[in-house]
Amino acid sequence: MKKKLKLLTVIGARPQIIKAAALSRAIKNNFSDQLQEIIVHTGQHYDENMSAVFFDELGIPQPDYNLSVGSASHGVQTARMIEGIEKILLSEKPDYLILYGDTNSTLAGAVAASKIHIPIVHIEAGLRSFNKSMPEEINRILCDHSATLLFSPTKTGFDNLINEGFKAGNKAPFHADNPGIYHCGDVMYDNSKYFAEIALQKSTLLKDLDLEKSPFILCTIHRNANTDEPKRLQQIFEALLEIVSLSGQTLVLPLHPRTSKLLKTNLREETYQEIVNHEKIKLIPPVSFLAMIALEKQARMIITDSGGVQKEAYFFQKPCIIMRPETEWKEIVEAGAAVIADASKEKIIAAWKAFQANPPMHYPEIFGDGDAASFICGEMLKNWV
Ligand code: UD1
Ligand code: UDP
Repeated sequence: MKKKLKLLTVIGARPQIIKAAALSRAIKNNFSDQLQEIIVHTGQHYDENMSAVFFDELGIPQPDYNLSVGSASHGVQTARMIEGIEKILLSEKPDYLILYGDTNSTLAGAVAASKIHIPIVHIEAGLRSFNKSMPEEINRILCDHSATLLFSPTKTGFDNLINEGFKAGNKAPFHADNPGIYHCGDVMYDNSKYFAEIALQKSTLLKDLDLEKSPFILCTIHRNANTDEPKRLQQIFEALLEIVSLSGQTLVLPLHPRTSKLLKTNLREETYQEIVNHEKIKLIPPVSFLAMIALEKQARMIITDSGGVQKEAYFFQKPCIIMRPETEWKEIVEAGAAVIADASKEKIIAAWKAFQANPPMHYPEIFGDGDAASFICGEMLKNWV
């Protein structure tokens, strides 16, 4: 029997589980006779609604290994992952290690594999915030600089790699000292395209929340720089309260566990009480991906500090207010579809007013053709020596 290319995929945090669905689907549909995938879940996210909910819904194979690392400080969490991933790499001996994005699970995979010379494939390579106080910025730079194949979803990401010394003209065979870089589109766009219709058919959340006919704004908050800083969190929620009052619309907030845990301690008591008791504010637990897509598709506007949700706002052509000082997805700001408002009450409200008056009109196709995952599979096969 012909030998298959053996991939070992590391996932751990919610967005990675979702991203991995695109590649697993491409393997199942187009490459099952050439590619074999082994999935390692680090256990970075572990609540049912942050992890298990996605596997069945998105058709991702159950992980072959779960390291059950759980939550801890950056050093402890990453170290536990490195130890676990290294053991599995030594016994499974994959041809490639697949890593997504910029979480501690990504970094742990990069450290473990590069030291024992297993080639790394980094999906979502080249993204930069140019803000090294973000843990994700450190994770993505280190992962990119130890990778063999780097797949960037956007032109900006590709250009960032060139600016850091990666060469577009490198010739195969690729290895960590002669990496191959690609601008290939976004696997998250693959997923959004694939699941958009299914989401509205299958998810009952809009009905359950009584939102089928009433206009609403969708919001997510989970960046440590926002949740852990009382002043910033306070500004954000004051802005949200004002927008609810000005618009008369409902605000739906599926809360990341990090945020739910910090809301009471990091908000002023009167603001906290107003939010939890407000009839137009729906604080809900994290939702499944299909439910999230259904919310995004029906929302009037999206206010978020999430990387993934910013992009999905763009995919579904919704105005987006970004509650961060900068974004890695600068194309969506340049297209006029998103505004950076940081955690400033004034800027968030001003962005909402500006979008009310002038909704974005242009959504150029900047995230590929919806089949980045098949391209990635094809290139891995080509470069397999
Ligand atoms: C992580 C990533 C971030 C990504 C986000 C996606 C890093 C450094 N950060 O941030 O880039 O945007 O995932 O959601 O890797 N918790 C639970 N249950 C869970 C998971 C987390 O209660 O299933 C709580 C714990 O209190 C934990 C906190 O959330 O301490 C933060 O979790 P962690 O995975 O460390 O970071 P995220 O903020 O989720
Ligand atoms: N998401 C979800 N349920 C939620 C919130 C987000 O399925 O309650 C999805 C969202 O649609 C996107 C991904 O999670 O695909 C984004 O993950 P997150 O915001 O946690 O992390 P980031 O993208 O900022 O790293």
